[in-house]
Amino acid sequence: MHTAERLTKIPPYLFMQLRNKINAARAQGVDVVSLAIGDPVDPTPQPVIDALCRAAQDAENHRYPTDEEWGMLAFREAVARWYARRYGVSLDAKKEVVALIGSKEGCHHFALGVINPGDLVLVTDPGYPGYKPSIWFVGAEPYPVPMKPENAFLPKFEDIPTDIAKRATAFYLNYPNNPTGAVANRAFLAELVEFAKSNEIAVCYDNPYSEVVFGIERLSFLGTPGAKEVGVELNSLSKPYNMTGWRIGMACGNADIVKAIATSKANTDSGVFNAIQYAGVEALDRCDDFIGTMLDVYAARRNKVIAALRDLGWTYEPPKGTFYLWVPVPKGFTSASFCEFMFEQCAVVIAPGAAYGVNGEGFVRFSLTVEEHRLDEALRRMRASLPRLEFS
Ligand SMILES: Cc1ncc(COP(=O)(O)O)c(C=O)c1O
Repeated sequence: MHTAERLTKIPPYLFMQLRNKINAARAQGVDVVSLAIGDPVDPTPQPVIDALCRAAQDAENHRYPTDEEWGMLAFREAVARWYARRYGVSLDAKKEVVALIGSKEGCHHFALGVINPGDLVLVTDPGYPGYKPSIWFVGAEPYPVPMKPENAFLPKFEDIPTDIAKRATAFYLNYPNNPTGAVANRAFLAELVEFAKSNEIAVCYDNPYSEVVFGIERLSFLGTPGAKEVGVELNSLSKPYNMTGWRIGMACGNADIVKAIATSKANTDSGVFNAIQYAGVEALDRCDDFIGTMLDVYAARRNKVIAALRDLGWTYEPPKGTFYLWVPVPKGFTSASFCEFMFEQCAVVIAPGAAYGVNGEGFVRFSLTVEEHRLDEALRRMRASLPRLEFS
């Protein structure tokens, strides 16, 4: 059987590979601690689970959720209230919000709804591995925009060649950033809007970590004057409410792009299970305190990891966003060889920076989405088994 040529461009999905490696080692009896994957282990808030259970009892919700093709109006209105309350952003729930099966799905439908075959599409490098496949699937080409430590991992618009900026039709980016933890500020977002406007580029601002920030203001791209003219923001309940498995998120902003995404979705899936949308309303409307509690948990875990890294020789300043730490590799290692070394010495799995793009080389990513006692165990092993490390 032949399969589509487009698949030949898609590298193996990093986390599938890591999962296979972890499972194989565990099958051999190795007690592996994974700090690689950004998938919260802590439970979803109880009121959200209760709301799902109540809604699941109602047979009305057992049917296709297609009455309102863009997602239930009740959910989209809750999204609009959340954006108003958390970010001061005003959204028309009927025209500027569509429910998603997670923001990853939104990245894909943005491509289907906005990008043409042969287009050139800007993506940050390093970047979330989900973007490039969506671009390839629609027959377009990604163009990597480097994110450098000396620029606080923000793209420098003036360094993007003018002919590339003119040719590009879309730009995928996310801050607070996976994998670097870097954050954007209002000035950067204003530059982004200006850059997009002057080059007629549609922005896919993927913002699932908008709530995961430490000591700085939460920012939505849509809070930037002019943002709705140039793009959409994808967001998700996955990270702020520990709901990765529930698969629910939203695309908001430019009404034409939102409509394009909704059209693509209406012809692909049949929407999000209504009971999950009701649970989503509960999360968005009544679980603000839960986010604060989780941020305290992540802050405590960050402090522990940073203390261990410093003991081992790193001079590392933690980023202001996400539950990731993007850490330079010691002298003499590549990102892959250091991950291998960590695995061999401590049976601790971390993610190699090179898997996020060529500019990710020289870094590894630690994720804080692991139970307390497993994190303690990983750090104990690192302190016990790693030599004092040197950095150039
Ligand atoms: C930048 C980024 N976008 C999207 C996603 C996918 O999120 P969701 O669970 O909402 O599909 C992730 C998940 O790790 C991510 O890091």
